[in-house]
Amino acid sequence: MSDTNRTEDMDTSSCYAADGEILTFSPMLFKDLHEVYYIEQSVFSYHWTYPNFESSVAIGNHGCVLRNEAGKMIGYFIAMEAVDEMHLLKIAVAEEFHGKGYGRLLMDRVVDFARELEMESMILEVRPTNDPAVALYKNTGFQTIGVRKGYYADIREDALVMRLVL
Ligand SMILES: CC(C)(COP(=O)(O)OP(=O)(O)OC[C@H]1O[C@@H](n2cnc3c(N)ncnc32)[C@H](O)[C@@H]1OP(=O)(O)O)[C@@H](O)C(=O)NCCC(=O)NCCS
Repeated sequence: MSDTNRTEDMDTSSCYAADGEILTFSPMLFKDLHEVYYIEQSVFSYHWTYPNFESSVAIGNHGCVLRNEAGKMIGYFIAMEAVDEMHLLKIAVAEEFHGKGYGRLLMDRVVDFARELEMESMILEVRPTNDPAVALYKNTGFQTIGVRKGYYADIREDALVMRLVL
């Protein structure tokens, strides 16, 4: 499969981790998907399949991976443009890196990116029981605007719908 896709409009960029390590954000490409999927199935009980990720890259969603200096993948996000609203479909950090500020770095990157594209808002769904994610979103300024009944098919859990005005 070709590794050219629309996500390449997201620039590769660097940032510093809390310990001073230089980290790199780069567009999610097909060659990244084995590592992405490894993280995905280890942190989500109800997760995307590998073909879900292939389709996401193929249709040009905005995917981004975060790596450390050694090239190890720390986490990723995927966002989809819907007219003037960015829909955050995925954000995840590998379990070994939880609680070290990497989720915050990914969130800040996707919010900056949506602003660069002059989106008016960002929307996402989250399990109300997912305390780290809900905290991350609230601290970013997201507000709960609704509930999607039975959104998570595994245990028919509802989703909170949260929105950030950009
Ligand atoms: C949600 C997730 C991305 C957060 O990543 P992380 O690197 O562990 O988070 P950080 O260390 O950057 O912390 C982010 C914020 O969440 C808060 N937080 C982190 N862990 C927390 C916990 N266990 N309980 C409550 N708050 C927590 C922190 O206080 C921090 O606050 P800040 O917004 O002021 O920076 C990560 O837990 C994850 O990958 N979870 C599995 C996948 C997932 O559930 N994704 C979201 C689906 S909607």
